[in-house]
Amino acid sequence: MHTVKVNASKKYDVIIGKNTSALLGEKVKELFGNVKVCVVTDDTVAGLHLDKIKSVLNEGRIANDAFIFPHGESSKSPEVIFELLEFLAKKHFSRKDVLVALGGGVTGDLTGLAAALYMRGMHLVQMPTTLLAMVDSSVGGKTAVNLKSGKNLAGVFNQPELVLCDTDMLSTLPSEIFADGMAEVIKYGVIADRELFDVVKNGEIEENLEAIITRCVAIKRDIVGEDEFDTGKRQLLNFGHTLAHSIEKESNFEISHGSAVAMGMVIVSEIAWANGMSEERCQDEIVDALLENNLPITCPYKNSELYYATENDKKSSSGRISIIVPEKIGKCRIEDIALAEFRELLK
Ligand SMILES: NC(=O)c1ccc[n+]([C@@H]2O[C@H](COP(=O)([O-])OP(=O)(O)OC[C@H]3O[C@@H](n4cnc5c(N)ncnc54)[C@H](O)[C@@H]3O)[C@@H](O)[C@H]2O)c1
Repeated sequence: MHTVKVNASKKYDVIIGKNTSALLGEKVKELFGNVKVCVVTDDTVAGLHLDKIKSVLNEGRIANDAFIFPHGESSKSPEVIFELLEFLAKKHFSRKDVLVALGGGVTGDLTGLAAALYMRGMHLVQMPTTLLAMVDSSVGGKTAVNLKSGKNLAGVFNQPELVLCDTDMLSTLPSEIFADGMAEVIKYGVIADRELFDVVKNGEIEENLEAIITRCVAIKRDIVGEDEFDTGKRQLLNFGHTLAHSIEKESNFEISHGSAVAMGMVIVSEIAWANGMSEERCQDEIVDALLENNLPITCPYKNSELYYATENDKKSSSGRISIIVPEKIGKCRIEDIALAEFRELLK
């Protein structure tokens, strides 16, 4: 078991290892005292893991309820979040009570925002059940729902007070969803850690899983510690994501976030190399790492189609956009460029 200590506007532990969900009851009591817990989860995760979580809470004599919503990105919506808020009100939850997000990034983003909104803020524990949520979305405090105009357009920063990554939960994860998480792991390697990148490129995942998750969380912790509110260095975490959000939107969210990030990383590293922005030609190694981890490397849309979707992205403002350029594997930099220039680069 590993613990990564996050020092942001809230200080909290990310506990990573086998069966860490068994710690939920004792940690809730230690951190919050005598409270009620609402577990928020989607229908798939509920069928697989909710009973265990409820029995851990029941054993600890912690009153609990569960809000279950349909799985999938389309539930990261204003409608579902208001259903959740109404549920909490009907069940008489108060602001001293706790929301536990049990699920992937969709559950974490939705629950994190609900925890900030309900009575102006209740306690939040993240229990990520996908690899993507373990290495990325459960840590760092970004929460959001999607609007019809684009992804993650309505959200707040809301750090959790505890993250429990139970690696046993990954045993039920379909391989293609595990692969989505590997796209984010590869991202961490490219932006910050050559050694991590090599482990992943060589396919040495299973035997190193806990260490890989811990390393990714530590990289994110360091970046968030320097730039919690995403005005500078945190943008490095968006490597591949500007185009990924356009790809997801163009596909009506049929293409998963991880696959879209994989395609986005290939396109942006090709652009960077072709325009003399990189020290090393990174795209070949990135492609090798993606293929080794069953991720796509080609995008079904033309770059011009992606450009139009990018114009509405929240990463663009006042006619400018930040793109993350790989200088070499293990080091990226932020380039702030005019949207018109970005359009030319995409050509
Ligand atoms: N807040 C952030 O910093 C941040 C960072 C990256 C991504 N995100 C967001 O995360 C979301 C993607 O997250 P995701 O890929 O985890 O998606 P997800 O939450 O939709 O989960 C993917 C699928 O896996 C299923 N699932 C989850 N855990 C399972 C398990 N243990 N066993 C079997 N099935 C399981 C879910 O039911 C779902 O169908 C996107 O909305 C993205 O925008 C947020």
